[in-house]
Amino acid sequence: MQELPNRLMIVSNRLPITIAEQPNGTPLLKPASGGLVTALDPILRQARGTWIGWSGTNDADQTVDQLLEDATNSIGYDMHAIHLSQEEQEKFYLGFSNEIIWPLFHDLQSRCNFDPSYWTTYEQVNRKYAETIAEHYRDDTYIWVQDYQLINVACELRQLGIDAHIGFFLHIPFPHIDIFLKLPWRDQILNGLLEYDLLGFQTNRDLNNFLICVEALLPDAEIDRSGEYPLILHADRNPTKVGFFPISIDPNEFRAAAHTQDVDSLYGQIRESFPARKLILGVDRLDYTKGIPERLQAFSTLLETYPDLQQAISLTQVVVPSREDISEYADLKQTIQQLVSEINGKYTKIGWVPIHYIYRSLPREELLAYYRAAHAALITPLKDGMNLVAKEYAVCGPDDGVLILSEFAGAAMQLSEHSLTVNPYDLTGTAQAIYNAVTMPRAERMEHISKLRHSINQYDIYWWVDTFLQAANVKPSESVEQASG
Ligand code: ADP
Ligand code: G6P
Repeated sequence: MQELPNRLMIVSNRLPITIAEQPNGTPLLKPASGGLVTALDPILRQARGTWIGWSGTNDADQTVDQLLEDATNSIGYDMHAIHLSQEEQEKFYLGFSNEIIWPLFHDLQSRCNFDPSYWTTYEQVNRKYAETIAEHYRDDTYIWVQDYQLINVACELRQLGIDAHIGFFLHIPFPHIDIFLKLPWRDQILNGLLEYDLLGFQTNRDLNNFLICVEALLPDAEIDRSGEYPLILHADRNPTKVGFFPISIDPNEFRAAAHTQDVDSLYGQIRESFPARKLILGVDRLDYTKGIPERLQAFSTLLETYPDLQQAISLTQVVVPSREDISEYADLKQTIQQLVSEINGKYTKIGWVPIHYIYRSLPREELLAYYRAAHAALITPLKDGMNLVAKEYAVCGPDDGVLILSEFAGAAMQLSEHSLTVNPYDLTGTAQAIYNAVTMPRAERMEHISKLRHSINQYDIYWWVDTFLQAANVKPSESVEQASG
């Protein structure tokens, strides 16, 4: 990794650890789930910077603050918690962020709840984040805001008189203009984004969607495309540089973690429980964007179309609980459970269950053991900013594993040439891709996975952070100990 700024401050909705209440009422620290945390945690560990985010609990609590302080000592970077009231959690986190921006930006406008009362709380909580940043910020700090929950933070920081360079990275897709136009707060969101000095998107498609919206909705803005990155010029504010920076993982760290003794032993246990059987793996947060019901139906179609595969193939679907206070998510949980039991009810035979369903956050060792044991990963989101599970499987899975990947995942922009790409809405096509994965000659499988690894090694998380910070013109400092990627 190249030189980092003197002080790197990551600001995201959630801290990398979250506080959950145990049944006896005492708080417990848990790693937060999702790709954002997986990607950014190694960066901050090396930069020894600061992370500002929500603790996952309601209101301030001294026990929680003490737990976070203890965790700071073991994690190696500072964490400052934002506390959200019950109402803020409902209207900012569950409401504006996850009932409006999340579904809309994933092209699922019919799942949006455009409740007019959400916007004010979104602004108010973004102000709260800005105030906490202002408390911990120094002149040599690079403030890097993450994701859709915090679009308005730069705007709030400007109002607090902070005119530092501020960067923003959007981890989720940016939608096509026809969808973005539906957002009642489209002008506020677009103007909020343009308060940043550098805006990063996952893919070229997201970047272009954004530029089209700027051209259509802000006739006074001018786009200068003469440099390495497009620059949005506006009479009333500083220019905003925009680019796409596909996020990634630390493949060396994943590879090493996947080959410890603990993982070896778990891997052995998994293989023993699927003797001579092809194991297909799905791993997702509980989310309607991940296409889990469609995937289960495609697997059922496979068993129906190729009866010879019955008893010879199994799907293990891991689902990590997420956002269950939103009815769309609670309904999805029911739908998945029902489909799993219907399919298992229809096809199970003595000694063989077609779908193994795991609904919890697995310890990391177990997840890595599943990656190693799976003959193919079935990653079929209806839409996804990137999808790090695809990259993790390619790196940790077997040397002859196959990646089956939705064409609507950001990861497909980089990995489609060496994976079996599918349209997740096409159940027959997805079933056929699973069949192709398990019948593909071994040499071909090995060649593809090795090419995928090559690409992930080259464009790893350190490449991502370097490229973004270079685009931000962040002045590096010798005072930060450097690490190599
Ligand atoms: P998203 O960010 O939408 O959740 P990603 O695929 O980009 O989707 O990231 C998911 C992250 O969550 C991955 O880094 C993966 O390793 C992690 N993860 C997935 N399943 C589990 C699990 N069962 N336990 C712990 N972490 C998990
Ligand atoms: C995705 C989003 C992140 C979010 C994560 C987990 O990765 O891009 O911003 O933190 O999902 O979701 P949660 O709502 O639990 O924070």
